[in-house]
Amino acid sequence: MTGAERFLVTGALGCIGAWVVRRLVRENVPVVAFDSGGDARRLRLLMDDAELSRVDFVQGDITNLSLLQETLDRHRVTHIIHLAALLHPQFKMDPALGARVNVLGGVNLFEAVARRGRQIRRIVYASSIAVYDKSDADDAAAVTHLTVGHPTTLYGVFKQAEEAMARVYFQDREVSSIGLRPATVFGAGRDYGLTAAPTQAILAVARGLPFDIPYSGRSHLHYADDLAAILVASAREIPRRGGVQHTRHHRTDARCSRGHRSCRAPRGERSPSTDRCCHCPKTTTRAHWKA
Ligand SMILES: NC(=O)c1ccc[n+]([C@@H]2O[C@H](COP(=O)([O-])OP(=O)(O)OC[C@H]3O[C@@H](n4cnc5c(N)ncnc54)[C@H](O)[C@@H]3O)[C@@H](O)[C@H]2O)c1
Repeated sequence: MTGAERFLVTGALGCIGAWVVRRLVRENVPVVAFDSGGDARRLRLLMDDAELSRVDFVQGDITNLSLLQETLDRHRVTHIIHLAALLHPQFKMDPALGARVNVLGGVNLFEAVARRGRQIRRIVYASSIAVYDKSDADDAAAVTHLTVGHPTTLYGVFKQAEEAMARVYFQDREVSSIGLRPATVFGAGRDYGLTAAPTQAILAVARGLPFDIPYSGRSHLHYADDLAAILVASAREIPRRGGVQHTRHHRTDARCSRGHRSCRAPRGERSPSTDRCCHCPKTTTRAHWKA
């Protein structure tokens, strides 16, 4: 742990949030768990009472800007992992509610951080692979993180809006952020929605019961604790920037001439998909990369 770190996790009572909170608590990092819900069952699946007692809970709505600001100030937050959201199909009957939480909630957070100058070093937020449609894949059936997405659900549209606001807040107000686009997350606490099926299948197998996953096709699966580790590492990564990446492209083997590992998706065998090394931001030539 870095001495002065204090993390705010929004959506901390959700599946991914619970794994992030557990990871931070086990690193002895002060963590504020912000969520509109009051049911800590997913945290209880992962942590004992002693660990839970080290978490500061704030029950509140991400759409409430003044509460967010008060929370950031009261707890002198330095890093944010933003996971509060309504998932598909939670807002099917009320799309405006989905927009309020997933878009306005994001604007609130970025605005609150922008108003605090450099107090908060980074927002890491979960976008989603739902920013893409199947037709966005190239001939090799893959999208790079720079592929322009054409989402076919409102959920994907809201995620795309969040990515765009992150870019603009970096450009206009220097708010540093990293967005990750996970595919399907599995692990304890993944307990509702269609894509909870892989978790339910694992549980059924452990109990010796049959289970049919009610969909088919290719999909990436991320273990929730692996994703939590990537979210926390992204929050600590320097330098400041405002990018978004596929989760599976977070690490590649490409290295620049100074030995930095690329954070970018590889294009072909050798060079990353962008000329810019994220660790050497002033270096913009392809020659910077090792052949
Ligand atoms: N689970 C996946 O497979 C997956 C895949 C890609 C992206 N994501 C993204 O990761 C993030 C977390 O996903 P999850 O699976 O943990 O979801 P989840 O539904 O388990 O958790 C979301 C949490 O946000 C909270 N929340 C909802 N509205 C709120 C509000 N207005 N204010 C404060 N808190 C609020 C909920 O109470 C819940 O605890 C979301 O942004 C989601 O879109 C998830």
